[in-house]
Amino acid sequence: MKIDVIAGARPNFMKIAPIIEAIIEAKNAGNDIEYRLVHTGQHYDHNMSTQFFEQLQIPMPDVNLSATSGSQAEQTASIMMAYEQLLIQEPTDFVLVVGDVTSTMACTLTATKMNIPVGHVEAGIRSGDRTMPEEINRIVTDAIADYFFTTTKEAGQNLTNEGVKSEKIFFVGNTMIDTLLKQQARFFAPVFFNGSDQKSNGFIVLTLHRPANVDNPILLKELLTQVVKGAEGRRVYFPVHPRTQKVLNQMEIDWENLILCPPLSYLEFNFLVQNSALVVTDSGGITEETTVMRIPCITLRDTTERPETCTIGTNELIGTNPILIAPAMKRVWLGQWKKGGIPELWDGKAGKRIVDCLLSM
Ligand code: UD1
Repeated sequence: MKIDVIAGARPNFMKIAPIIEAIIEAKNAGNDIEYRLVHTGQHYDHNMSTQFFEQLQIPMPDVNLSATSGSQAEQTASIMMAYEQLLIQEPTDFVLVVGDVTSTMACTLTATKMNIPVGHVEAGIRSGDRTMPEEINRIVTDAIADYFFTTTKEAGQNLTNEGVKSEKIFFVGNTMIDTLLKQQARFFAPVFFNGSDQKSNGFIVLTLHRPANVDNPILLKELLTQVVKGAEGRRVYFPVHPRTQKVLNQMEIDWENLILCPPLSYLEFNFLVQNSALVVTDSGGITEETTVMRIPCITLRDTTERPETCTIGTNELIGTNPILIAPAMKRVWLGQWKKGGIPELWDGKAGKRIVDCLLSM
């Protein structure tokens, strides 16, 4: 069985690492399974892509589709055209996609139309917010994929509600957490990290990249103002996504306690998170990592496709109104934040469970 593993954007890389490792192990144990790693090129910078392959010891991609960036439609079309050519010239037996980025949906559409079965890892999660491109990617992918690997029972229930047969749904756990648990001992401090922060009052990690938060410079400035205010003198480390950087380039920002830096490597970013007092973010994946590391997390969104990070974990959604930020941060400083627990099967073995399923198909 020859499997294409698709990766395109930063949040995909930590999800594919344990799957590839499990495929290699299964092959070495004598099973008839091999993979081809296809990078769509959606994220292309060293900071957003290459360094993840190096740090997470992911084998270099076998193919790079070199998709162009641009609008959602342009990017989708570019990935689909390049992947279709690859499948015509060098077919595969099965396609495995992960997460909810444009590459996930584009490769699923391409493969399904060529009658190649597709498995979706992290299937069934839903925010209910169709203004987010990721939600459309999830819905489209799950409408046409053939096998569904889920991180929670609730995600499986969402799929059942949408008419997916139960024998196609496999509750396997969370491959992003496989990577976190495996790499935790290797986390290291970025060079600019100030160790005294940790010992005194603690520090904050901030990430923002959603169009709704970053595309309007006035809103972005107000969000930053309120995070700095709520920090009450603590340092705020802010690794800046390329999309956000483009907007910041048009603005004046000068706060002593706001430390801006380019996107960090996986091991450095998670060092900061693990040692922080609080994370403020609009990411989805980071809320899973803070849950497992039991770090308080404030999410600047109205909805989440990962409700377990709020009901079980340390995450709380406060929406995108900047005036709500400082009062929420205050609750952390007063020791009033929930401690949180860990969702079922987020135990570091999801990659192996997925490959066991593939072998039994
Ligand atoms: C994508 C994913 C999102 C994920 C995020 C994390 C979709 C719809 N969204 O959003 O789910 O949380 O990645 O990073 O797939 N750019 C660079 N260098 C790069 C990559 C991108 O400068 O290496 C620029 C692009 O040219 C573009 C902007 O960043 O102008 C946004 O990139 P894009 O891949 O379209 O979406 P993200 O906002 O990164």
